[in-house]
Amino acid sequence: MGTGLLSSAFPRREGVLWAGGVPLSRIHEEYGTPLYVYDAAVVRQRYDRLVDAFAGVELMLAYSVKANGNLALLDLLRRLDSGADIVSGGELFRVRAAGFDPERVVFAGVGKSEEELAEAIRWGIHGFHVESQAELETIDRLATRLGKRTPIGLRVNPDILSPTPHAYTRTGHAQAKFGIPAGDVVELYRWAASREHLWCRGIDVHIGSQIVSPDPHVQALDQVLEIVERLRAEGITLEYVDLGGGFGVRYADQSETMPVEALARRIVPSVSAAGLRLVLEPGRFLVGEAGVLLTRVLLVKHSGEKTFVVTDAGMTELIRPSHYGGEHEIEPVRENGAARRVVDVVGPICETGDFLARDRELALPVAGDVLAVRTAGAYGFVMSSNYNARLRPAEVVVDGERVELVRERERMVDLIRGERIPEWG
Ligand SMILES: Cc1ncc(COP(=O)(O)O)c(C=O)c1O
Repeated sequence: MGTGLLSSAFPRREGVLWAGGVPLSRIHEEYGTPLYVYDAAVVRQRYDRLVDAFAGVELMLAYSVKANGNLALLDLLRRLDSGADIVSGGELFRVRAAGFDPERVVFAGVGKSEEELAEAIRWGIHGFHVESQAELETIDRLATRLGKRTPIGLRVNPDILSPTPHAYTRTGHAQAKFGIPAGDVVELYRWAASREHLWCRGIDVHIGSQIVSPDPHVQALDQVLEIVERLRAEGITLEYVDLGGGFGVRYADQSETMPVEALARRIVPSVSAAGLRLVLEPGRFLVGEAGVLLTRVLLVKHSGEKTFVVTDAGMTELIRPSHYGGEHEIEPVRENGAARRVVDVVGPICETGDFLARDRELALPVAGDVLAVRTAGAYGFVMSSNYNARLRPAEVVVDGERVELVRERERMVDLIRGERIPEWG
């Protein structure tokens, strides 16, 4: 059960939650609900914290765009000198629109289409993180056709079952679709090194998401560095190792977060000793705690033993609770002094799986109250949908005293955009 304040982001002052220098009550009064609110200062703090922690090695932070692709956040991170980790042509389009330098973009993903690969080859990205022999051969063919020497790094599957809170966020074990088994990697590098248009530039591993202990990352790095040494002995010298992302943040059920300074102390010496640059792909760590979802209570429903707080946001706005069993801290934007009760916070969507929290102790709200769902900056808006013909919410960024609408709330007309009624025979 979630209790109390877990995070220094969005503090409570005189009974009201704030984002930077602005009370959240003022923001939802102006922009309505459901609403995502991001605090730019928190993103900057998180970015600086990683940079400071890894100061002992040449570092490129490649923000994992999948966590939150809003152009304003991409622009903010690019200005901090972040690179980007993308997984689709759509994310490539986004980072181009946000003005990223292609030389700071890496491209992972188990199923990149030829169109997506060709586009990124032409653009000249930092590295393709290749997840199969078939993909490597396709990149070779496209690079040859386009006459572009193309940088690649094989994504190693180290067969590590990382301790993430949900099975769906483990990506480094043998049963997962991601990466290439460690035992097959050297042979594929040999082949790649023999191809005129492939440039063996790096090596990559990403073992999962929301990990709070350094051990699995250290294990993965050790395996990868062994491969790097074997390759070097054969005359294949790589420039960088990419350890992926996955650094855990604070949710209601997890007070532990990834101690990135301790992680850095354990990996920086070996990466430096290997003469490599380090690439990291944090997503959640940079933006997770920097976001809240604001949702209005539509009604409170007593049903037998249960009390349901029905809100205007649900699984269509934030799917983490139902999809990953994610536990988000939920609290009123404005304290109402009510007694605490154990409730389910549910959305209006026609699914029993539509909930934001179950069996959660909360000061019992009344209709019209606005709740803040914490740690919603990552895998929140990006996973929202129009199911039940719901309008996706607006997004706002706060920077100190400034409040900027960075994505308009969808309108009804957006729901049918691109649809056609045929001339029925
Ligand atoms: C290849 C890759 N890199 C980085 C990330 C970012 O993970 P996180 O947001 O947990 O840092 C992911 C997330 O799934 C990923 O698949």
